[in-house]
Amino acid sequence: MVKVNCLNPIAKVGMKLLPASFGTTDNFAEAEAVLVRSASMHELDLSDSLLAVARAGAGVNNIPLDKCADKGIVVFNTPGANANGVKEMVVAGMLLAARDIRGGMQWVADNKSDENINKTMEKAKNAFAGTEIKGKKLGVIGLGAIGVLVANAAVALGMEVYGCDPYLSVKNALNLSRSVTLVKSNSEIYAECDYISVHVPLLNDTKGMINKASISMMKDGVVVLNFARDLLVNDDDMKEALESGKVAKYVTDFPNAKSANMEGVIAFPHLGASTAESEDNCAVMAVNQLVDYIENGNIANSVNYPACDMGVCTREGRICVNHKNIPNMISEITGACSAEHINIHEMVNKSKGDYSYTMLDLDSKVTDAVVKKLEGIEGIIKVRVIK
Ligand code: MLT
Repeated sequence: MVKVNCLNPIAKVGMKLLPASFGTTDNFAEAEAVLVRSASMHELDLSDSLLAVARAGAGVNNIPLDKCADKGIVVFNTPGANANGVKEMVVAGMLLAARDIRGGMQWVADNKSDENINKTMEKAKNAFAGTEIKGKKLGVIGLGAIGVLVANAAVALGMEVYGCDPYLSVKNALNLSRSVTLVKSNSEIYAECDYISVHVPLLNDTKGMINKASISMMKDGVVVLNFARDLLVNDDDMKEALESGKVAKYVTDFPNAKSANMEGVIAFPHLGASTAESEDNCAVMAVNQLVDYIENGNIANSVNYPACDMGVCTREGRICVNHKNIPNMISEITGACSAEHINIHEMVNKSKGDYSYTMLDLDSKVTDAVVKKLEGIEGIIKVRVIK
């Protein structure tokens, strides 16, 4: 029985996909697989039995990726599974920033006992007039699954859209509307756009990227939207920019004690992907990826190990090896097999940063001796016999 621990509630439609050979446990320490949404794993002790963590969502800043990689624990996320939910909130955020919808609704609530409200509102409404987003320039920083959907939706709404992503994948490029102007640097977006929406992961390089310096390059009265992570924005610099009017509105799905109290902030309680559809999509994708890894050793959408897929094993044996991305690993691994007279029928070796993954389909049964040999090789982190 493969023990799965859920650190957060995971949508039923996903949990139902766990095969009969999997069972849930409340004890993180004994789990071989973990499903998580936003619970922080940074303070948890990672046991030797833990093989994989699947994040039902895109952001992985709640998971210690390097610590996991170093223990051979593969971390998955679910890119794109909740992208539509977030995209719809970004569109809502732009509309709320463009027009004082909230002010208007509040006026109606405050005047609901006025019997002549249908007349008085015609005078009052001027206070809530806004502008339209059609014809305005939107800059999308980060063209992953969410950024692409946001860009395409904005094109459909008649906006002039600019996009920037030095790591744009072929898949995302193919999905991106041809009407989006791709630019090489964020500074082109800062200089051009009336609305700027940030869709990058929180990394050392991106932390605080919306700050005094980047804001100073932006147009006066710009609207900044952050549906990615709060620490991408320097709160003190944003406060100053809102006070001076440099930034007209800061729309964020990640308020904190500082930004929630700023004038000019439109904030939501991390609602972007909180839809029934997104939660279901993420749960299904997370569970499928986890099960495929545990059962077959295949890796899809991992953030700390490379993608690697050999399908279902049809040979006598399969071994999967998580190891460091250092010289000689392939010859050491194949050498261990040949020393045990085991013929390798097929193998795949892939690397991602400092870590690599090797899958071997073998023409004879896996022996304890070959596993021992592999485990003894310097740089090998985990050896798993799939069959
Ligand atoms: C994500 O990272 O996928 C979104 O912020 C939603 C979530 O955290 O679940």
